[in-house]
This record gives sequence, structure tokens and C-alpha cells, in this order.
Amino acid sequence: MNLLTLEGIHHKFDYPLFSDVNLELNQKESIAITGVSGSGKSTLLHIASTFLKPHSGKVKILGLDVYEDSSSMLKIRRNDIAIIFQSHYLFNALNAKENLELSSIISKKKIDKRLLESLKIDDLINRNISELSGGQKQRFSIARALIKKPKIIFADEPTGNLDHKTASSVMNYLFEYIEDNNAVLFLVTHDEKIATKCKYNLNF
Ligand SMILES: Nc1ncnc2c1ncn2[C@@H]1O[C@H](COP(=O)(O)OP(=O)(O)O)[C@@H](O)[C@H]1O
Ligand SMILES: [Mg+2]
Repeated sequence: MNLLTLEGIHHKFDYPLFSDVNLELNQKESIAITGVSGSGKSTLLHIASTFLKPHSGKVKILGLDVYEDSSSMLKIRRNDIAIIFQSHYLFNALNAKENLELSSIISKKKIDKRLLESLKIDDLINRNISELSGGQKQRFSIARALIKKPKIIFADEPTGNLDHKTASSVMNYLFEYIEDNNAVLFLVTHDEKIATKCKYNLNF
């Protein structure tokens, strides 16, 4: 089943950024977007993830043309997609558990204990955010993004702040997740090694 399609995407700011980007991701597939800083990777992720209307071209998620149909866009944002950034954006005023509970309340989905175990954060759940290392915070932010069981994970350099070992366990988890949940991964990365683990590569 086709989960994400980009058709003839063109975008420009005050200069052309990219033209005619086409891609299609079916269940369990992944794509790595690579390229130098400023080449437009994050912009393409914003376009594909419903947050930036392209200058021209279509974005279809679960077969729905997201920029043509604003009610399906809202439904898709709420239920079907998750976005993970290089910075964790956890709420410091809440502890780790409360950060996850917030997502659970919004999505009306229970927090799956196995999710916390596989990310190795089940023992850290009662800590304050300030008591977590960078890698632990990132694993909580991934857990928070996945509580709603999204069909598409958009990740913008999710391991950019992590050491190699933590980065590879986080990436393994994301690949396992798409396999087990018939989901797809749209990944922006600087890391060539990680990129080669994705089914498709698109270099800007
Ligand atoms: N909202 C914006 N308005 C104008 N220019 C932008 C905007 N967002 C990004 N850019 C420019 O577009 C280019 C690509 O940015 P970006 O997609 O963030 O690149 P990357 O993620 O590959 O580093 C950069 O030159 C950036 O300055
Ligand atoms: Mg970027």
C-alpha cells in the first residue's frame, strides 16, 4: 500500500531550491535524503510532512492530496504522521513520564510498555528532563512521537546529536518500527552509513 507520494515537487524561496522531485514509499520502505547544508533537505521534509505547501506539485499521504483537502490534512497530522527533530523539544516543566502522557492523551492511545523497553527508557520514566543525557532525551522524544502509532515517520537528522552507539540503536529501533507497523521512514541524514540502510537514497 502506498503511504507517501511526491509528484513533481518544485519549490523556491527567492531562488529555485529544487525541481521535479518524485518519490513513492510503500509499507516498510525507507528513504534517506542526503546532501550538503542548505541544499533543501529540511525544506523537502516540511513539504512532505504537510507543513509547507510547495510552489507546485502534489503531496499524497495515504492517497489523500494533503494541500488540496484541509480536513484530511488535520486528520493526517493528528493520527498518521510523526516528526522527529535533531533537538528533542521535550517540555522541561514536565517530567519524562508526563511528556509521554501528554502525547497519549492527545492521541488517545495507550503508552506501550514494549516501546519504552525497546528504547531502553523504561527505567528512566520518573526522571526530570534535566536529569537525562542527550541520548536519553532523544529516545524519549522518539517514544513520544511513536505513541500515536504513526504510519509515516519524518525524521530530520534525528541522530545528529548522538554518539555512534546510541545513534545506531535509535536507528535500529526506527527500522524495526516500520517493519512491525507497516509504516515508512522519511529520513534526512548526514550519515552515509545510515543512509545506505534505507531502501532509497535521494542526494541533493
Ligand atoms: N522560510 C524560508 N525562507 C527563505 N529561505 C529559506 C527558508 N527556509 C529555508 N530557506 C533557505 O533554503 C535553503 C535550504 O534550507 P534547508 O531546507 O533548511 O536546507 P538543509 O536542511 O539541507 O540544510 C537554505 O539556503 C535556507 O537558508
Ligand atoms: Mg536541515
